[in-house]
Amino acid sequence: MTVFGTGYLGATHAVAMAELGFDVVGVDVDQAKVDALAAGKVPFFEPGLPELLEKTLATGRLRFTTDAASAVAGADVHFVCVGTPQQRTSHAANLAYVEDATRVIAQHLTKDAVIVGKSTVPVGTAARLRELVAASVPAGIDAELLWNPEFLREGKAVGDTLHPDRIVLGGVSERSEAIMRAVYAAPIAEGSPVVVTDLPTAELVKVSANAFLATKISFINAIAGVCEAAGADVTVLADALGHDVRIGRQFLDAGLGFGGGCLPKDIRALMHRSKELGANRAAALLQQVDEINMGQRERVIDMALEACGGSVLNKRIGVLGAAFKPLTDDVRDSPALNVAAALHLRGAQVTVYDPEAGDTARRAFPTLGYGTSVDEAVEGSDVLLVLTEWKQFVDVDPQRLAGLTSTPRVIDARGKLSADQWRAAGWEFTGLGRLTA
Ligand code: UDX
Repeated sequence: MTVFGTGYLGATHAVAMAELGFDVVGVDVDQAKVDALAAGKVPFFEPGLPELLEKTLATGRLRFTTDAASAVAGADVHFVCVGTPQQRTSHAANLAYVEDATRVIAQHLTKDAVIVGKSTVPVGTAARLRELVAASVPAGIDAELLWNPEFLREGKAVGDTLHPDRIVLGGVSERSEAIMRAVYAAPIAEGSPVVVTDLPTAELVKVSANAFLATKISFINAIAGVCEAAGADVTVLADALGHDVRIGRQFLDAGLGFGGGCLPKDIRALMHRSKELGANRAAALLQQVDEINMGQRERVIDMALEACGGSVLNKRIGVLGAAFKPLTDDVRDSPALNVAAALHLRGAQVTVYDPEAGDTARRAFPTLGYGTSVDEAVEGSDVLLVLTEWKQFVDVDPQRLAGLTSTPRVIDARGKLSADQWRAAGWEFTGLGRLTA
């Protein structure tokens, strides 16, 4: 099989398929990425992936190339795992990479094959790709395109790929369904449910899942605002809500909101597509979800300004966290860096520390100050912001840190610090949706 695209999704999928026993060629247009992966180096931080890459490369079942033609010629199943970033000028998804990869696969087929779309796309894309395949495939060859969305989370990508919560197969024939059931035989045997459906439903499952998760986060963030105004505590409230199995505790952590390469762009793309389809209520709901989310960043900036007496000009601000969430070095649309950059623009001297995302953050925001430890970020700070809930930040000893600054003041923007413990250690503690004293 081939896997087109070797980013988070493609690299993980290629390695996972090789782990399941298949011969896999990962294809990318980026020579540097291909060289790194072929040499056993994962070009991003993803727990467990380097070990599994090394193991599967050693079996000889996995290789990487930029030579699409030769990769396609030898394979029966081709996965499309390329990115669908937000367009520069609108909320719509940029489908150029998906179209290019699909066309290249179809053009180079030398035998009947199944083309499996995994990328996150606006509903209706797969039907158009089918036309593209029909127009590009050599005469006499049968190429079937189906949709099999991927739900992996960064930081848990390997486990999510090998043990998916569900396997969605959209637009399959009897033949291609049998092929896909053979591909996923191991997770299916372990109990992963298979949902067989049409192309548009399969495309929509993915974006609706992300939209629901985003809505859950914005819901609790909106309620956090009510908690603050009413003197209630959103962390206790979320725990109590979560005991209701119909609600569940996950994705009810109030705070700085969602970022990363998926949730923000996916809800905007769904908003855009819903409007195109005339489904204006969905678009309006998602607009609110997005606005509440972006408002959380403004709220934390305001809290920092307030903590510094109205202006952060020449104030020292320590920032713990740059990644959009823990267990990744991804800073795409990172709320943490967004806040840090905004405070820097207002004249603050910002020192950011992140255990894994320091390098990616520096590349994205070279003008910010960076430290190499928690202590460096805290030292002499007028206010300390905890913007990504890495375990090592949650477990830090506030007593020891209090000695590093004459103004021990902390804003917990992720709701994971113990307010009591920090206050007992002498810190002035503020959190989103938390009691003030
Ligand atoms: C998400 C989906 O979870 C995954 O299924 C899909 O395939 C890709 O998009 P990911 O982008 O890796 O995965 O991140 P996720 O773990 O979903 O977190 C997204 C953001 O929400 C992070 O910024 C996180 O900090 C934030 N978040 C999450 C909250 O603010 N509160 C929560 O309770 C949970």
